Amino acid sequence: MQDEPTMRTYPARRSAALHSVSVSERSAARPAAEVAASGDALAAYRVTERPYYREVGDEVALYETAYSVRMPMMLKGPTGCGKTRFVEYMAWKLGKPLITVACNEDMTASDLVGRFLLDAQGTRWQDGPLALAARFGAICYLDEVVEARQDTTVVIHPLTDARRILPLEKKGEIVRAHPDFQLVISYNPGYQSLMKDLKQSTKQRFGALDFNYPEHEIEAEIVAHESGVALEVAKSLVHIAERARNLKGHGLDEGISTRMLIYAGSLIAKGVAPLAACRVALVRPITDDPDMRDALDAAVTTYF
Ligand SMILES: Nc1ncnc2c1ncn2[C@@H]1O[C@H](COP(=O)(O)OP(=O)(O)OP(=O)(O)O)[C@@H](O)[C@H]1O
Ligand SMILES: [Mg+2]
Repeated sequence: MQDEPTMRTYPARRSAALHSVSVSERSAARPAAEVAASGDALAAYRVTERPYYREVGDEVALYETAYSVRMPMMLKGPTGCGKTRFVEYMAWKLGKPLITVACNEDMTASDLVGRFLLDAQGTRWQDGPLALAARFGAICYLDEVVEARQDTTVVIHPLTDARRILPLEKKGEIVRAHPDFQLVISYNPGYQSLMKDLKQSTKQRFGALDFNYPEHEIEAEIVAHESGVALEVAKSLVHIAERARNLKGHGLDEGISTRMLIYAGSLIAKGVAPLAACRVALVRPITDDPDMRDALDAAVTTYF
């Protein structure tokens, strides 16, 4: 079954995040440098167990080199093809903490940078995930950054050029990025509209790696590893996905992802009949169109 990586997500796992952010409470009493030296500001974000990642091309070496020059990176590719897993693996391999932020349309610059909070003692500043990563030296992964409001992209600009600074305007502080800090964003090229796309001035601050569904044998290996089904079953699942991927743009908005195949495999591994598993995990989620469902069901019966 799937390795459960120990990275922390911000703000989805906010309790864990707040636990570590409470260090910034203590930093009121302890100088930031001392907190940094003790290393515990980012303890909650360390990837302690090796995530399973099957290399598909030369992406690992390329990323390592990009990190060595602290190049901000953009991971491009469709949903469920391994971007998040890759960044978790690279953080583990490089031995750097990873702060992941799931961006959404309500997210503002303050959510990233930080804000003043009111408590019994008065107001105190709380670093947002980006400030935390920049201050103490983590890899900050902004998932689907294009979803966030425009003002958030502005705050990443000075961090992703030669300046490597993060101005905390409300606090009147300029954070100089820690040498270990790196910004990584993900981007699904299929989902962008004219209204929602990254500006060239943002795109051109990043190196980019293209991700896609891996080739047949590798994808089957991943599905077998992650779901626990036999390799032969995994291969059949990949065949079905390949059929569906050919229908993208011809009635399907998106093909069946590696993630979906792992879901189907996990159900089969638990004893669900393959036809039912594929219906639940592969066909029903991606389309409501009866003809398209029939076409995909037919593909499933070809292999099971
Ligand atoms: N190369 C790979 N090595 C190991 N596992 C992989 C690989 N590619 C995909 N997977 C598996 O597929 C699942 C989905 O991948 P992941 O969550 O990284 O997708 P994603 O590209 O981040 O998708 P989204 O854009 O929706 O966030 C992972 O949980 C992992 O099990
Ligand atoms: Mg992801």
